[in-house]
Amino acid sequence: MASLFSSSSSSSSSSSNVIFMFVILVFFMGTSSALSTNFYSKTCPKLFNTIQSEVESAVSKEERMGASLLRLFFHDCFVNGCDGSVLLEDTSSFKGEQTAGPNVNSLRGFGVIEKIKSKVEDVCPGVVSCADILAIASRDSVVTLGGPSWDVKLGRRDSKTASLSDANRTGTLPSPFSSLSTLVSRFGALGLSAKDMVALSGSHTIGKARCFSFRPRIYNTSLIDSSFAKTRQANCPGTRGNGDKNLAPLDLQSPTAFDNNYYKNLINQKGLLFSDQQLYSGGSTDSQIEKYSKKPETFFSDFAAAMIKMGDISPLTGSNGEIRKKCGKPN
Ligand code: HEM
Ligand SMILES: *[C@@H]1O[C@H](CO)[C@@H](O)[C@H](O)[C@H]1NC(C)=O
Ligand SMILES: *[C@@H]1O[C@H](CO)[C@@H](O)[C@H](O)[C@H]1NC(C)=O
Repeated sequence: MASLFSSSSSSSSSSSNVIFMFVILVFFMGTSSALSTNFYSKTCPKLFNTIQSEVESAVSKEERMGASLLRLFFHDCFVNGCDGSVLLEDTSSFKGEQTAGPNVNSLRGFGVIEKIKSKVEDVCPGVVSCADILAIASRDSVVTLGGPSWDVKLGRRDSKTASLSDANRTGTLPSPFSSLSTLVSRFGALGLSAKDMVALSGSHTIGKARCFSFRPRIYNTSLIDSSFAKTRQANCPGTRGNGDKNLAPLDLQSPTAFDNNYYKNLINQKGLLFSDQQLYSGGSTDSQIEKYSKKPETFFSDFAAAMIKMGDISPLTGSNGEIRKKCGKPN
């Protein structure tokens, strides 16, 4: 930077150098804090109340919805950043992310997000992105189910497109059959530490998984409580293709409460997914699991910090992207 500066300005006056430096400084200050918690405070003061009441009503109709909304945000952020791309529906001429392996027959909550969007359009049309709605709805879901709160950073814009092949690429979205080292490196590739990964995985204290996702784990005797395995086998036949859609709670103790039971389950070898149990399998993350199992408040604050970090993944800002009118299709 210094040599570029001096060579490009060798024939300029020193006052234009100062202006040039100032412009560069403002540019970098601007990009380092692209998102802000008060982004809509003037343009949509009713935003938070509008989303919160819709999330509360959706969760009171079906408690699992809180989990489904949280997962939507995660799957949005992990594929080309938190840009609302996961919400774009397929058409005859466009294939988005929704049919990618980790998403198909699994992601849910699209209708709830679309309903929230239409309520938000009623109070401040054309102002709030679907990507930001997803970020706020995730936070409100966690809070509604008894988890921590945090200030959501905002100002993301929506993508105009989405990529099936990006969402379906092996390793983009983590697989439930991944080893600990693979999980650490997948999250690492997006700037999330192993610590963030372990804290974010506490999301599996709510919601459900399909037999398809946990079959190999419950028919393998390694690192699993045998009576837990038996219970899960009762509704998940061992033959591939049989009962693939049958559901089981990710947290056997309290599947609709956002608490630290997920970590206690891991210590008892009762994690549902192979990838869950990997976090407590004699490796480098064991101590963090033990800490969260004893100190829910530490889990909560680390989770909140990691959610903010995940929400910072490659947002579209400024004049990039658009503010969609409907979340399911580009304008
Ligand atoms: C560490 C890597 C992760 C893997 C391998 C993973 C994998 C999975 C799988 C396979 C399911 C069940 C899907 C099905 O069978 O239909 C699931 C559910 C879920 N995941 Fe993850 N996940 C991971 C991390 C996360 C993160 C970081 C979050 C949120 C921040 C999250 C939130 C959820 C939630 C809430 C559910 C339940 C959804 C529902 O009931 O609709 N997961 N996950
Ligand atoms: C996604 O990738 C898998 C292989 O990794 C392939 O079997 C599947 O057909 C792909 N799905 C789509 C919708 O392209
Ligand atoms: C059972 O799981 C272990 C890893 O925990 C793996 O090494 C082994 O190959 C699995 N066995 C079978 C039969 O899938």
